[in-house]
Amino acid sequence: MSFAAMAAPVALIQGASRGLGFEFCKHILKNKSLAAVVATCRNPDGAAELWGLAGQHPGRLTVLKLDVNREEDVRGAAERVKESFGRLDLIVNSSAMLHPSGKGETSLRDVSAQGTISTLMTNTVGPLVMAKYFAALLQKGSGGFGQQPAEKAKQHSGIIVNITAKVGSIGDNGLGGWYSYRMSKAALNMATRNLSIELGRGRPKVLCVSLHPGTVNTDLSRPYHRNVPKDKLFSTEHSVSCLMGIIESLNIEKTGKAYNWDGTELPW
Ligand SMILES: NC(=O)c1ccc[n+]([C@@H]2O[C@H](COP(=O)([O-])OP(=O)(O)OC[C@H]3O[C@@H](n4cnc5c(N)ncnc54)[C@H](OP(=O)(O)O)[C@@H]3O)[C@@H](O)[C@H]2O)c1
Repeated sequence: MSFAAMAAPVALIQGASRGLGFEFCKHILKNKSLAAVVATCRNPDGAAELWGLAGQHPGRLTVLKLDVNREEDVRGAAERVKESFGRLDLIVNSSAMLHPSGKGETSLRDVSAQGTISTLMTNTVGPLVMAKYFAALLQKGSGGFGQQPAEKAKQHSGIIVNITAKVGSIGDNGLGGWYSYRMSKAALNMATRNLSIELGRGRPKVLCVSLHPGTVNTDLSRPYHRNVPKDKLFSTEHSVSCLMGIIESLNIEKTGKAYNWDGTELPW
């Protein structure tokens, strides 16, 4: 077995300071005993919970500064990961905003050019730029996440997960509203599909999927929690456990699609 095949998996969680991103870090450190985690966030000095987690798992969690709107941050983080690990097995792009106001637009009246551009920058352009700088490291991964088919030509070296939202599905949109957020996630899904094609062509293959976490008890959805029935508002633990189950079952046949938290395929 080659060194790369034996090496422990390395996951990078982008947007790890709180919410689902933080939970992904916790879950992987707890359940994938040898894995290393790189947690990126825009303000490491203020990420007390991440530093606490690093203390609980000595030597396994690296915290790096990365504002996904700053291309130089993304490039710099990729250089740091290259120096420290030389490869990556999984990236989860978790960071996002609903809208700079903290609430989705309910009608055209609420739409502003700057609000829409900011939302698209963070939710769509950010994950695409992440793929640009980290693809080469994922191509050097050991395929430590997902399922490897026996056939060598179909095996993958790494996985990109873009956290999407069901409201980004054009086919599922019967209610309207939330212009910026819906548009940002629909466009993110297109980035997922494009990436799956370009990075799935050759060898080594990198898979790319969009995953919807359900409605989860985090700051992002907090303004709407009172409209959600109790059993439909997931804890971050439950949601991430479901999403990691999907990630661990991924293979080349499943790339380029959007999946709900329960593993069912979401319509575009
Ligand atoms: N919660 C839900 O019900 C729900 C439903 C569907 C989809 N989602 C999706 O799930 C993902 C995670 O959301 P969440 O619920 O965990 O939200 P959250 O608790 O509000 O966390 C958002 C995260 O994004 C980070 N972030 C925002 N702008 C950033 C930037 N420019 N650069 C780097 N990081 C940035 C925040 O960092 P700071 O701490 O620095 O602000 C924070 O860590 C998102 O993609 C969201 O769209 C959530």
